[in-house]
Amino acid sequence: MGRSNRETRVAHEYHERTAHSPASVRTSTHSLDWDVKPFPFKVYTDLPPLALPREVDPLAIDTLAALAARPREGAGRVTLADLTALLYYSAGVTKKKTYAGGGEVLFRAAPSTGALYQTEVYVAAGRVDGLEPGLYHFCPGDFALRRLRAGDVRAPLAHAVADETVARRAVTVMLTAIYWRNTWKYQARAYRHLFWDSGTVLAQLLAAGAALGLVPRLYTGFVDADVNRVLGVDAERESALELVALGPEGAPASPLAVVEDLRHPYMPLSPSEVDYPLLREIHAASMLDTPDDVRAWREAGRRVVEEGAPRPLVTLPPPREASGRSLGETIQRRGSTREFGHTPLSAAELATVLWAATRTIDADVPAGLVDLYLIVNAVEGIESGTYSYRPEAHAVELLKAGRYRNESAYLCLEQPIGGDAAAVIYFLAPLARILGAFGNRGYRLANLEAGIAGGRVYLAAYAQGFGASGLTFYDAHVVEFFSPHAAGTDAIFVVALGRAAESGRVTIGTTPTRPRRPSA
Ligand SMILES: Cc1cc2nc3c(=O)[nH]c(=O)nc-3n(C[C@H](O)[C@H](O)[C@H](O)COP(=O)(O)O)c2cc1C
Repeated sequence: MGRSNRETRVAHEYHERTAHSPASVRTSTHSLDWDVKPFPFKVYTDLPPLALPREVDPLAIDTLAALAARPREGAGRVTLADLTALLYYSAGVTKKKTYAGGGEVLFRAAPSTGALYQTEVYVAAGRVDGLEPGLYHFCPGDFALRRLRAGDVRAPLAHAVADETVARRAVTVMLTAIYWRNTWKYQARAYRHLFWDSGTVLAQLLAAGAALGLVPRLYTGFVDADVNRVLGVDAERESALELVALGPEGAPASPLAVVEDLRHPYMPLSPSEVDYPLLREIHAASMLDTPDDVRAWREAGRRVVEEGAPRPLVTLPPPREASGRSLGETIQRRGSTREFGHTPLSAAELATVLWAATRTIDADVPAGLVDLYLIVNAVEGIESGTYSYRPEAHAVELLKAGRYRNESAYLCLEQPIGGDAAAVIYFLAPLARILGAFGNRGYRLANLEAGIAGGRVYLAAYAQGFGASGLTFYDAHVVEFFSPHAAGTDAIFVVALGRAAESGRVTIGTTPTRPRRPSA
């Protein structure tokens, strides 16, 4: 693996220095400078838009079947309509909200911290019916692609990922993050958000890819500088995070002799920006430098997931097989619940969410890095208390019986929504062990796995007709609360679940941004 990637003090320090505590929150002097709020879209000024079709496949498959990756047979080809659906359901604008005073927010398919949407999407098209081979940027603002490079770039991507199948799969979708869009509000802690938020986009991209029969495979290990060069991003401000290869394999793309430097101008995000070196440092320290580093890194991480010691378990009801709501409709209607009422969930509803969140993903690294802990406030048939979820047994282990609404709100940075929720899922991970195996890049993986699982929690909740919201948290207090069971782990991410109070129901039933009909 890369030399600096092994110096895991960098990730440990980053994690410590960006932890929230009551003291850090109360002494923070950071205030939002609205004059420099970053523009939410990347707009290339010298490239003509290539409008995507306005009619999007409704993804009629049941949401829970798509999350289980039990979809139809692998599709024999990828069409522009497939690509359009992938982009719309993972990163498209799904609703618009206008606020008193004239402010307007264009909400996207996937949830994102602060609705700041720093995740950008690029496409390396090889064999897509209806689209010339090339490298494209997707702009959700005008729902268009812009071609950054003519010609097939799958071969240099396959080299960077150290996996030649990438040169044979029909298309690769790449996610990057523009730091300033998120650091504007969250400062250096934004680095965690890059992975939570690209994780929620991936949860939806992987589900949509499975629904379309495109057999998506996720890549988290790659030569960062090479992928950034292919994309032509200014790596001090924007960097590649993950790649997803999709579609059938065909003849390999021919290698490119040289990857020319790209210099397409784009609109500045704001009149000025603030640099957060801590974020750039952890990102640089988790880079891989050569394809050999990528291979060694992948190999080193294979044995990190250990079996826990057996403990007495409470079996959960089997997950529901179908929700009755299609994947397309679930994504279209999804939104973060802003206020929960105290109406309970059923045990089967909670069990289905936990099961869907922990389905394995076809990826270059093993899953199971992150453990799910729960505070159950109101779930019929499950005693109130704290639990740890065991996916392999689809069962929970009771840690402490009792009523913990006050604690669940407190741990979520004192946000009342954490106390009103029927259940709150806290994702914790043994960071020291993960960094030991994967180096600093393990920090990306832990946050990403929790982000993907969190994105799936949203989908499984909305499919079943109730709500969810990602939440931030007091790091050390979360671990302490779940200890001794959770001793030695670190808090990574939190999602709350429950039925919306009337006023908390922000998005269900809002009008889609474009007419949508089933395709032939
Ligand atoms: C990783 C993550 C963390 C979040 N943290 C919070 C939070 O601490 N408090 C909160 O009210 N909303 C939180 N949210 C919800 C976002 O504010 C919401 O996703 C965003 O405003 C977009 O709205 P939508 O999800 O309704 O489309 C979080 C969302 C995500 C994905």
